[in-house]
Amino acid sequence: MSQQVQGVIAPGKNEPVRVETIVIPDPGPGEAVVKVQACGVCHTDLHYKQGGINDDFPFLLGHEAAGVVESVGPDVTDVAPGDFVILNWRAVCGRCRSCLRGRPWYCFDTHNARQKMTLTDGTELSPALGIGAFAEKTLVAAGQCTKVDPAVAPSVAGLLGCGVMAGIGAAINTGEVGRGDTVAVIGCGGVGDAAIVGARLAGAARIIAVDIDDRKLQTAKTMGATHTVNSRATDPVEAIRELTGGFGADVVIEAVGRPETYQQAFYARDLAGTVVLVGVPTPEMKLELPLLDVFGRGGSLKSSWYGDCLPSRDFPMLIDLHQQGRIDLGAFVTETIGLGDVEKAFARMHEGDVLRSVVQL
Ligand SMILES: NC(=O)c1ccc[n+]([C@@H]2O[C@H](COP(=O)([O-])OP(=O)(O)OC[C@H]3O[C@@H](n4cnc5c(N)ncnc54)[C@H](O)[C@@H]3O)[C@@H](O)[C@H]2O)c1
Ligand SMILES: [Zn+2]
Ligand SMILES: [Zn+2]
Repeated sequence: MSQQVQGVIAPGKNEPVRVETIVIPDPGPGEAVVKVQACGVCHTDLHYKQGGINDDFPFLLGHEAAGVVESVGPDVTDVAPGDFVILNWRAVCGRCRSCLRGRPWYCFDTHNARQKMTLTDGTELSPALGIGAFAEKTLVAAGQCTKVDPAVAPSVAGLLGCGVMAGIGAAINTGEVGRGDTVAVIGCGGVGDAAIVGARLAGAARIIAVDIDDRKLQTAKTMGATHTVNSRATDPVEAIRELTGGFGADVVIEAVGRPETYQQAFYARDLAGTVVLVGVPTPEMKLELPLLDVFGRGGSLKSSWYGDCLPSRDFPMLIDLHQQGRIDLGAFVTETIGLGDVEKAFARMHEGDVLRSVVQL
C-alpha cells in the first residue's frame, strides 16, 4: 500500500523547483510516516537545488520540519501515531565507531528510511538530508522523529530540525562558548543569528555580528549581538580586533560557507582561539593559508555538523528554554508560506529579505 501527496521537488541542477505528486510507501520496519505541519526553508535546500551538495536529482526538498506521526512500522516502539515530533537528520545508530566511543552527536551511520519515496512514474526521489519535508507527508526512519511538547507551534518547533539547532549548537556544543568569552559571528542569516542566541545563552560577554547587509545586522542586534560590523564597508578582522582589546575573539563562528569569510574568521580570533565553520562550502571552493599561521596562532579549527547536537538531548531542552522565555525561537520566522512558494522563498533568501520562510501545511 502507498499514498499520494503533494511535495516540492528540485528536478535538475538550477531548474526551478515545482510541486509534484509523490508516492509515500507505508512504513516498513524501523520507519514512520509523518504528517508534516511546517518546514523551514534553509540555505542548504538552495545548495541542493543548485547542485552544490551532490547530483542525485530529483531531490525532494525540505528538512527543517515538525509534524505529527501518522503511522509507524511493525517494530517501532519509541514513537507512536499522534506524537508531535521534530524531524532530525541525526538518527543515532548506537553501533558505529563514534557511538561506541560515547560520542553519538557525531554518529557516522545515521538512519534514514530504507524505502524510497517516488514520483508517480516510479522515479526514485532523494530526500534532502534524508528527510524531504516540503511535502504533506514524508517517510523517515523512526529515529528521525524526536518527540517534543506539542504546546509549541510547529512553525517554531520545526526550526530546531536544522538551522536554529545548527547555529545554537555551533556556539554551545562545537565552539564551547563559555561565560565571559568574546564571540564573533560572520554571516547573520538564520544560522548565524542562532549562533548569536547560543552565545548569549552560554554567557558570552561580547558578541560581534558581521554581515554585508545592514538589515541582517539590525536583526542580529535584537537576537543578542552587542556590536555589529558591516564587512562591505569595514575590514571585519580589524574591527573585531578593535572591539576585543586589539586581540581578536575567543570564538569566531563562520556561518556563510565561503573561503574569504573563513579566512576572516581565522584571523579575527585571538591566539589559541577557536574557529567554528558551520557554513557549508561547495565542492569547487579552496582555502589557502600560511601553514605557519595555522601553527603559530594555535587553538582549534573545527567544523560543526548540525551543531554537534544530540536531538534527544537538545531538542526538548531548547523547547523548554523557549517556553520559559529564555530564547525566542519565534523571532526567526519572517513569514509563513505555502508549498507552491518555495521558489519565491529562495529568491527572497538570496536577496536577504528573510531570516526564515516557513512552509505551513
Ligand atoms: N553545518 C550545518 O549543519 C548547517 C546547517 C544548516 C545550514 N548550514 C549552512 O549555514 C549557512 C548559512 O545558512 P542560512 O540558512 O543562515 O543562510 P542565509 O542565506 O539565511 O544567511 C547567510 C547570511 O550570510 C550573509 N553573507 C553572505 N555573504 C557574506 C559575506 N561575504 N560576509 C558576511 N556575510 C555574508 C548574508 O547576508 C546572510 O545574512 C549556509 O551555508 C547553510 O548551508 C549549515
Ligand atoms: Zn552511530
Ligand atoms: Zn538546513
